[in-house]
Amino acid sequence: MMILESARQIQPHLSELRRQFHAHPEVSQHEQETARRVQEELEAIGGYTLRTGIGGSGILADLEGGQPGPKVALRADMDALQITEETGLPFASQNPGVMHACGHDNHITMLLGAARLLAQYKDQLKGSVRLIFQPAEELSPEGGSRSMMEAGALEGVDAVFGLHVWPELPMGTFGTKAGPLMASSDHFSVHIDGRSSHGAKPDAGLDAVVAGAQFVTAAQTIVSRNTDPLQSAVITIGRINGGTRYNIVAGECDLEGTCRTFNPKVRQMVEHRLQEVLDGVCTLSGCTGELKYERGYCSVMNDPQQADYLLKTAAELFGEDKAVRVEEPSMCAEDFDFYLTEKPGAFAWLGTALLDEEAWPLHNCHFTAPEDILWRGSALLAQIALNMSQE
Ligand code: NI
Repeated sequence: MMILESARQIQPHLSELRRQFHAHPEVSQHEQETARRVQEELEAIGGYTLRTGIGGSGILADLEGGQPGPKVALRADMDALQITEETGLPFASQNPGVMHACGHDNHITMLLGAARLLAQYKDQLKGSVRLIFQPAEELSPEGGSRSMMEAGALEGVDAVFGLHVWPELPMGTFGTKAGPLMASSDHFSVHIDGRSSHGAKPDAGLDAVVAGAQFVTAAQTIVSRNTDPLQSAVITIGRINGGTRYNIVAGECDLEGTCRTFNPKVRQMVEHRLQEVLDGVCTLSGCTGELKYERGYCSVMNDPQQADYLLKTAAELFGEDKAVRVEEPSMCAEDFDFYLTEKPGAFAWLGTALLDEEAWPLHNCHFTAPEDILWRGSALLAQIALNMSQE
């Protein structure tokens, strides 16, 4: 197929771009240099109408096709993470303590690859394309997709698509499913107030550490006892901090955690039960407690028809075995959810795992993706836009 040939031809250029982005990662809301490089590349390609500086460093790039038809939006996220890279790659991060450990360097590059291909095939494009280069995906609960949407990123758009590199799938495999693909992600914190006393005189105090410990164990029953066994929920309390000295009954205890769910009703129930569990623990201990529950990203809900369309396009380009209908969603979260609340579309994973190498997880200091995915992802994104009018 022509598009595959064209995509292969730009692969050396894509590798070079990706290495540049990888070597110069920028954390959420500081993607200025990255955005400048994206803009430079889009201007070099030509034909796109650009809007820059959205929500900090976001870019919207519009391309009108040669014939009338639907408007397809394609999205990439641009931010990196506060992790010290340990890949040992020749193009490893030059920004100390910052790394493209979620693979967004690949997402930017593949969307720029698609931009180049679409400009090349513009005459065959029925309709138009909007490219969304988004900042701050990692900034839950207020991801960068919000500011892109507020700037009208999906105005007039018929469908929206995005890709994420995925170390749990074999290299070059596209995986997605209808309905929930990724979980909602909420953050909560609990403050427990007791009364400190001498460690030898617990009866004179109210032990906030014992109350905190009871809260941690009781909260686990929300998953095991209150959640429908055929539904999913995760409650992780990742931080606990209480007391001042080994022989003083703790007057205060702070806890912090995350909740992941797919079903909005389960999400509601978890939030509600956390408050009840805290109230119960406080009654039991005589302490007082306060829960702050902060809703983050909703679950990524793929439109069944668009998920099918994405997989069909991947199968046509790369063969049936490279288009996988994944059975299980992931408990990880993505602010792509926000686009899908407004327009139909689909988010998909692009496999990065090589047979003979250890597949490091996302957000790990060793994570990297093989460059062979770049032309593949670019071709798929471009083809999604080119084929849309036939749907
Ligand atoms: Ni990511």
